[in-house]
Amino acid sequence: MIDLFILALIAGFITVAYLLRSKQKKKNLPPSPLGFPVIGHLHLLKEPVHRSLRDLSRNLGSDVFFLRLGSRRAVVVTSASAAEEFLSQENDVIFANRPLASLTEFMGYNCTIVSAAPYGEHWRRLRRFCSIKIFSAACLRDSSDIRRDEVRALLRRIHVELVTSGGNDFVRLKLQPLLYGLTFNILMSIVDGKREEDDETKEVRELIREAFEFSGVSYVGDFLPILKLFDHDGYLKGAKKLSSKLDKFMQKLVDEHRRNRGKTELEKTMITHLLSLQESEPEHYTDDIIKGLVQVILLAGTDTTAVTLEWAMANLLNHPEVLMKLKTELNNVSVEGRLLEESDTGKCPYLTNVISETLRLYPAAPLLVPHASSADSEVAGFDISRGTWLFVNAWAIQRDPRVWDDPEAFKPERFESETHRGKYLPFGIGRRACPGMGLAQLVLSLALGSLIQCFDWERDNDVAVDMSEGRGITMPKAVPLVAKCKSLPILDKVVL
Ligand code: HEM
Repeated sequence: MIDLFILALIAGFITVAYLLRSKQKKKNLPPSPLGFPVIGHLHLLKEPVHRSLRDLSRNLGSDVFFLRLGSRRAVVVTSASAAEEFLSQENDVIFANRPLASLTEFMGYNCTIVSAAPYGEHWRRLRRFCSIKIFSAACLRDSSDIRRDEVRALLRRIHVELVTSGGNDFVRLKLQPLLYGLTFNILMSIVDGKREEDDETKEVRELIREAFEFSGVSYVGDFLPILKLFDHDGYLKGAKKLSSKLDKFMQKLVDEHRRNRGKTELEKTMITHLLSLQESEPEHYTDDIIKGLVQVILLAGTDTTAVTLEWAMANLLNHPEVLMKLKTELNNVSVEGRLLEESDTGKCPYLTNVISETLRLYPAAPLLVPHASSADSEVAGFDISRGTWLFVNAWAIQRDPRVWDDPEAFKPERFESETHRGKYLPFGIGRRACPGMGLAQLVLSLALGSLIQCFDWERDNDVAVDMSEGRGITMPKAVPLVAKCKSLPILDKVVL
């Protein structure tokens, strides 16, 4: 009798297990290429990754596809409509998490920084702080002097370099370090107040650059966690060392602010605002949270904006007709030999279109920042399980011939007529979209407009600028831009 009961129990158990498995098997996953055991599809990710993902999507004939990256599941989306569906009103919340990665564990203060924090109250608090204290219309107005001073300092630096090396002739100039210096100085002033260009500033600029280069390398241990035990390539050791150096510098900034509280020149810095909040809400604004926010603003804003400026200049050099049209617009706006002001840029639609077209073809975050799902869901007819990573291939979407006319061509005019809603997403969409978009656009407009207004530009050796994309998270140029440049008389008239 008991035996019969046990047999019935086992049979029942097997039936339930079978039913559960067959239910699981029925999961409708997006199409997927053939993979290997253990590594899955890792071998298919070739640099530049956004290109290899676009090619995979074409080979599979699907705008949504599934990859197994070692032990991680990932979904890749390569069309505007699919991106909209994954990040639409209802699904946006589900995909508003970020994947956990070793780098954000160390450098991101255990994933508490705004760009890596899971979706929830802590992340919302940090975003609210950013929206109110850095990126609101009033704060952007307040920081306009910083942008004007730093852009003028850039013009002065270039002018002096030209005068010392060639007088009135065209001089060869490597733009990248100058543009990177500009964007770093602007953000550093917003965060910490105006600083002299001393050894310490140079050191932290290098550290931020190093940290950025580090974050551009995908760490294989994040996909095959067993490798973390060995750290065969020294990645984890390097990340820890770098994050400890960065942390020391960030702590120094916070301590200096604490010591100098009340000084008028520090009144409006981001660190001052955060220290005030620390007094009223110490549990939410610890030193680690403050340091993390400072670091994220420097990391997220410096390279992205500088790289975009470099691509914009490269595009203009390869399209002299666009450069000429832009120069004419700028000269019409700032008449009487006056330097371009931020308030003028609103009257320069062509300048805005040149920047938009640059960001369309060369988005500084071609795969956005990876999202991760917090619950099982059904999207675009597919079953997506909790914890799946989501890569939105903005680069592919913005060059998709099904939705863009002549997509590979650099034509700023397209933004006058073509609607770009849904298919243009260089700053992302949804809750996790870039909070720094407004600031970035102001910096890009004033800096690019001023460079074109104040100098004549030519290609080096009259050879077309190489537009290949290099390795790295922000899609840098494979070959840094070298251009020939000559000061215009407007620079002599104004006191820089
Ligand atoms: C996130 C693009 C400049 C701060 C992002 C994302 C993109 C992006 C695509 C991810 C969106 C997503 O996951 O859906 C850009 C581009 C820039 C730029 C193209 C310049 C041309 C800036 C600047 C700042 C900034 C100047 C700050 C000063 C951030 C932060 C996040 C972010 C904090 C993380 C948001 C979160 O996870 O909640 N950016 N960005 N970005 N960006 Fe930007």
